[in-house]
Amino acid sequence: MGFPEIRMRRLRSSPSIRRLVRQTTLSVDDLVYPLFVCEGMGVKKPIKAMTDCFHFSPDTVAAEAAEVASLGIPAVLLFGLASKKDDVGSEAWAERGAVQRAIKEIKKLVPELLVITDVCLCAYTESGHCGVLRRSSLVARDPAHESRGTSHEARIDNDSTCELLAKTALSHAQAGADIVAPSDMMDGRVSYIRQCLEKNGFNETAIMAYSAKYASAFYGPFRDVADSSPAFGDRKSYQMDPVNANQAMAEIELDIEEGADIVMVKPALCFLDIIHRAKRRFDCPVAAYNVSGEYMMLNAAAQAGLLDRDAAMMEVLYSIKRAGADIIITYFAKAAARELKTKLK
Ligand code: PBG
Repeated sequence: MGFPEIRMRRLRSSPSIRRLVRQTTLSVDDLVYPLFVCEGMGVKKPIKAMTDCFHFSPDTVAAEAAEVASLGIPAVLLFGLASKKDDVGSEAWAERGAVQRAIKEIKKLVPELLVITDVCLCAYTESGHCGVLRRSSLVARDPAHESRGTSHEARIDNDSTCELLAKTALSHAQAGADIVAPSDMMDGRVSYIRQCLEKNGFNETAIMAYSAKYASAFYGPFRDVADSSPAFGDRKSYQMDPVNANQAMAEIELDIEEGADIVMVKPALCFLDIIHRAKRRFDCPVAAYNVSGEYMMLNAAAQAGLLDRDAAMMEVLYSIKRAGADIIITYFAKAAARELKTKLK
């Protein structure tokens, strides 16, 4: 006696033994890089709210996608920016829309890179909501109603929105998208999209559903980028309440039943328990979205000299992986791919 019988430090005593006993692996194969596409030609405009992110036009985004592919990252996720908005978000499914053109350009230049598209209306509607408003909601915009507590965000019409989402997803598939990713949180949208794709012969297009998407404060920087903040109200009548966990399992189960191939939890860091539960309970691949606010928290802290960005980034990405994510969508993907490469040397 008088000495510790179990010495945990033995397995930490050198870089090689630490490598040997590492339980969680992170590979470039796990990463998806989000890209923002706008109208125009030759555009590569830095985004103030998000370090190292840009607005690209369809031509320049293809060159960027080629760089992403050269780093070994298997997929990009495209977000569109509207040149004009209206009440139904019709630019979302325009054949010559920025996203639709970007898909074609990317597929021409780097056919092997998977193109995933975000399917939502919020960047395209005047209201900034993810769906169309019921006519009666115009009444609810009257401040007199608001003061009586009328929730106008509850007046997004579910089923007519689903039809427009299906139309949008189809336009992405027609342009050549490999995977469509509905991020709106309407009920039944995966089913609408699946049926619409099947009816039109796109039985190979996969659906990655934003299944457990929470009404989170961590989307702040993104909404600046996409100019998609709700003009009034919030998204709490369709996105999930961050305090709930069981409901996330029900959402995921429904999406799988409706035909989703991959399910997603979003954001990642405040919801690691949800990722963990989803992975244990379901067999289909689980994606986690490391969102804009999570990305900028680290960048801002590093900028202030408070932490080492790349070390913090890897810790965050490993924690998402350790929780159970198979796929991580992250603005850090390029930096992480470079970091993983240097680690191998
Ligand atoms: C569109 C959408 C959002 C994000 C992805 N798709 C914004 C929102 O729901 O308000 C957020 C992405 C991020 O913050 O990185 N519905």
